[in-house]
Order: sequence, then C-alpha cells, then structure tokens
Amino acid sequence: MTLDFSRDPEYPPYNVYPPKWSFDNERAWQLYRRAKREQWDEEDIDWNKIKEIASGLDRKQRLAIAYWWSLLSNFDNATPVFAYALVKSHELHLNTAVKGVLTTITYDENRHNVMCGLAINSVLPGYPFDFKPQDEFENKVRLNTLWTWYNGARYWRAYLEAYSKYTLDVLFTSFMMGEAAATTVFTTMSKGSKIEEMRKAFRNTAVDETRHYAFTHLIMTDGASRMTDEQRKLVTKQVRAGFVFLSLITYKPPKEFWRLPPWFEEVNERMEDLARGAGFYIPELKEKEEAWRTALVRVGATLARYGVKIPAIPELGITGEEIEDLKEDDFVPVF
Ligand SMILES: [Fe+2]
Ligand SMILES: [Fe+2]
Repeated sequence: MTLDFSRDPEYPPYNVYPPKWSFDNERAWQLYRRAKREQWDEEDIDWNKIKEIASGLDRKQRLAIAYWWSLLSNFDNATPVFAYALVKSHELHLNTAVKGVLTTITYDENRHNVMCGLAINSVLPGYPFDFKPQDEFENKVRLNTLWTWYNGARYWRAYLEAYSKYTLDVLFTSFMMGEAAATTVFTTMSKGSKIEEMRKAFRNTAVDETRHYAFTHLIMTDGASRMTDEQRKLVTKQVRAGFVFLSLITYKPPKEFWRLPPWFEEVNERMEDLARGAGFYIPELKEKEEAWRTALVRVGATLARYGVKIPAIPELGITGEEIEDLKEDDFVPVF
C-alpha cells in the first residue's frame, strides 16, 4: 500500500488514535476534579485492629463475615468492567473529562476489590479456596460463595457482549440502578457497623459510589433527550436487570438469572444472623426493602423526566412496565 504523505492520514474507526482533547463539558470536568479530590487509600484502614477483633470471635462468626465480603466481591470485582468501558470510551473518542472519570472509577473499583480481599484476609485468611469446612453446614457456606461467583462469570460474558448490542450512553445509563443500590448499601452499613474500622471502609466506599451514581446521572442527562423509544425501553429493562442482579447482596436473589444451590437462602440467612451477632451490621429484610424503594424512587424520578419508565418490581410492590423477557444476555448492571 502506498501512502500519500502529502495528505492527512486516515485513521481507522473504533481506534483509540488519534488522541484528542475537549475542554467544553464543564459538568464532566467538575466530576473528574471531585473524583481526584475524594481518593482514599484502602491500606489506611487499620486491618490489624480488625484482625484483633476477629481473633475474639468464634469460628462461625468469622466465617459469616468473610462470607459476606466474598458475596460483595462478586459485585465489586468491577475493575475489568470499568476498564473495558474505558477502552470503549477511548475508541469512541468520548469527552476528555468523561474518559477521565471512567479512569478514576476503574481505580476506585480496584480499591473496593482489594478491600474485599483485605477484609477476608483479616477475619478468615484463605477463604474460600483454602478453607477446610468442618461440617456439612460450613461446606454449604463455601459452596454458596463459589456458586455466586459462578453466576458472576455468566454476567461477565453477557457484559462483554452487551457492547456490540447497545450504544455507550444506553449502557452507562443502565449502570444507574447498580450505583444507586451500592450507594444505599454502603451508607446503611457504615451507619450500623459496630466495628469502627469497617464503618470507615463503608463510609469511604459510599463516597465513591455516590460519585459513580453522579456519573451515570451526568451521562443520562446529557444523552437521554437523543434516545429513541427502543433505547428507552432497554434502559427500563436494565433497571429491572440491576435489581435482579444486585439483589443477591442487597435483598434476596430473585428467580430470574440466578443459578444457585437449593439451600442458598437458608444458609445465607443463618450467615447474616451470625455476622450480626458479631457486631457486623447487615440490614434486616424490611430495611433492605426500604433501601430498594428509596433507590428506585430516586432513579425513577430522573428517568421519568426523560420519558423512561421504571419496570415493575412486584417483589417490592412497585408497579411499572412489565418485564417478562429478561434473559441471561441482558445482564449489564454494575456496582
Ligand atoms: Fe464498587
Ligand atoms: Fe460503583
């Protein structure tokens, strides 16, 4: 191929080259600046103090706390989720500040994931892979974790494929429900925890999740007026997908999507009670329902302004658009 160097080169589409900068989206720049300001270090949490507290707990209580963090890590394993979104945003040459915010969210999610590992390592090192169950119940607990992660693997496949099906603004708007749910979870947990260092970890995480929510809100308000009816319907569906996916940790896993052992819920409830008994705060079912309602009202109010309906969530007595054909491939929510 001969190249005519006297002309400008032609760049291939969907390529991160050429580098380009834009400085006009002030709201996105403000959010990017806030993201840089609000950074924190997971190693500033006094994990030794947590180890000390854990050493005073009995085995099953320690297992219950490690187990909860293992479930959380299913959702906070989001570094590659955002790293992938970041690559896509560069290929599509989105606004410089938007790419900057996505870079910080990728970093945030890595911090959240490392935090899950540090928490497990402080209360029950080696859980779940090096954990040796002492009875049938402990083995079921271990299997609960491993099968939750199995579903995470199914989600990851669907997530990657979603990029060939949806436009970026529809995708990013779909992240809204997850971020709203995450914000509520961490805020309530930080208020309730009796273990001071975990309180701190949750409080800091809530700051991050609030900012992630602000990001989805920004994308929504920037792009929603251009959305077609079909795209609006997709967002409604994704709000339902967000509820179904995140309910494992924030409510109870609905029938859709999840493939879990038959004992999952029973064992999960026992674990929650054991963790509560150890001063680790997990909201009761009523409180979880209330948190979801609050999150849905919040998301619903924003969506309504742009003609996007909220889905029916019969589990919470919320009426809305009936979503019947939610398939495995539809799962793209993030935490
Ligand atoms: Fe997170
Ligand atoms: Fe998040």
